[in-house]
Amino acid sequence: MSATSASAYDEVIYPSAIYPQTHPDRLATIAHLMGLGPAAVSGARVIELGCGDGANLITMAFGLPGSQFHGVDLAGEPIRKGNQLIHTLGLTNVSLRQLDLLETPADLGRFDFIIAHGLYSWVPAPARDKILALCGAHLADQGVAYVSYNAYPGNHLRDIVRHMMRFHVQNFSAPMEKVRQARALVKFAADAKPNPGLWQNVLKQQSERVSRYTDAGFFHDDLSAINQPFYFHEFMEQAAVHGLQYLSEADLPEMLGEGFGAEVTAMLRQLDSANVIVREQYLDFLKGRSFRQTLLCRRDTKLDRALKPERALALLAVAETRLVKPDAVISSSATEDFAGPRGAVIGTSHPVVKAALVHLGNVFPQAVPVQDLVHLARERCSGPVHSTKASGSSSKSPGHAAGEAMAPGPPREVSFASDAADLAEFLVRTCAMGFVELYTHAPPFTTHISEKPVASALARCQIQQGEVISTLRHQTYKVEGLLSQTLLRLLDGTHDHAALLRILGELLRSGAATITREGQPLANLAEAEAMLPSQLEENLRRLARAGVLVA
Ligand SMILES: C[S@@+](CC[C@H](N)C(=O)[O-])C[C@H]1O[C@@H](n2cnc3c(N)ncnc32)[C@H](O)[C@@H]1O
Repeated sequence: MSATSASAYDEVIYPSAIYPQTHPDRLATIAHLMGLGPAAVSGARVIELGCGDGANLITMAFGLPGSQFHGVDLAGEPIRKGNQLIHTLGLTNVSLRQLDLLETPADLGRFDFIIAHGLYSWVPAPARDKILALCGAHLADQGVAYVSYNAYPGNHLRDIVRHMMRFHVQNFSAPMEKVRQARALVKFAADAKPNPGLWQNVLKQQSERVSRYTDAGFFHDDLSAINQPFYFHEFMEQAAVHGLQYLSEADLPEMLGEGFGAEVTAMLRQLDSANVIVREQYLDFLKGRSFRQTLLCRRDTKLDRALKPERALALLAVAETRLVKPDAVISSSATEDFAGPRGAVIGTSHPVVKAALVHLGNVFPQAVPVQDLVHLARERCSGPVHSTKASGSSSKSPGHAAGEAMAPGPPREVSFASDAADLAEFLVRTCAMGFVELYTHAPPFTTHISEKPVASALARCQIQQGEVISTLRHQTYKVEGLLSQTLLRLLDGTHDHAALLRILGELLRSGAATITREGQPLANLAEAEAMLPSQLEENLRRLARAGVLVA
């Protein structure tokens, strides 16, 4: 297909999205942990194949002004939309081009990071081969490629409904009618029996999956003529043809074989050292995996997948964590539990690890260099009795903060090197579990709420188009309600808190915006006005915590 011909993605626009797991920093961190020497993300060359409207790439380019980003996509309309945003933002380090990847010029040069999200399974065989050929030919020596694809065996379940739906919609021509009919068929089949057996239960599970999709995403992902899943070993055989080897999954916790019985765990451990491809394939059989986000590097690159803890010492750590018992004395050797993301709880008795987690929790989402964290945590362990109240998300100070009771424990005569090794081991182990995050680079946001706050120009630009914005943590963030949306538009550094209150108050009084309590709009204007100052501070705190403020 030529770049100028109409594409299905021009007819039905694919939902704009950003993917934290494709960010060069994620790829660089994993590469670093596995013994590669990836390019610094602050000065890298990055290309995204099938970039859609470039939302993913533009957000990266905005946060990494010293790096160069290139995007290609067959569809013209999304590329036009992306280029408009680039122009509005005045970005000079990102370019998007309408191009069939089969026609990419040979002189593209080398890239430190190549990204192909949501592409491999949805293109014909020659284009699939071209994706891997481009990675093989254009990846820098220590470069990392990200390729996602639908995987077997898990996708067999999705195939079942896909084939049913495609049969059912073949005589409808309007895309949204196809979507409506396909959804209706799956639901009809899933609900066909009052006492569902295995078959209806599979259909019910698929019906729920389908119901979570946007119409446009569902149209392309499930109803497209091509949606080809692969077994992991098949994908890796194709990658090897182009001189590529397996590095890791972009989602490290996906590589864990947790929750299995002793026999399975022992088998996986045995396979671990023998053959990573075989181990990963068996893990897919055991988990019923249906989607993979595989990182590849050049075959001749030396790597060591052992996740050596000392490698964490060159990184930065982030952790959204808190002490389960806020009054716990962290400098003692008692085991304390820390709550983390997605309900995870991890216990540790190591005073320096506890102090480090308390600090990370207090400054979240700021990234702290691991070396600094060792110093800070050691200071805290030998510090005086200290217990303070919450300092809020605006705290920039490394001082003691919420949820931390210090007590003069026995004098610690442990060397810096020993504490550093213990903390690094903990960070690497729990990063692989998704409890803490490691980075090579701190994104340019601040958690400090200044007198005249400034939100990123990207977020201020996006809020003119809709309610979903990109944060500098490379995540999407939904700004709900006219009051919050207006606030974000006003955060250009020219309004102090009093001015913000005045303008938002006028908006309230005009009746255009309301304040909600427990999901219900407040009918009483005086009550709503009284709540405005606390709403403003809460809104600013949320934006700061999401990584939207830059000053
Ligand atoms: C499923 S969408 C994924 C978009 C985006 N990467 C994402 O994950 O949100 C697939 C994208 O690949 C693009 N595409 C399909 N075939 C292509 C080709 N031969 N060359 C370049 N882009 C192509 C489509 O236009 C579409 O934007």
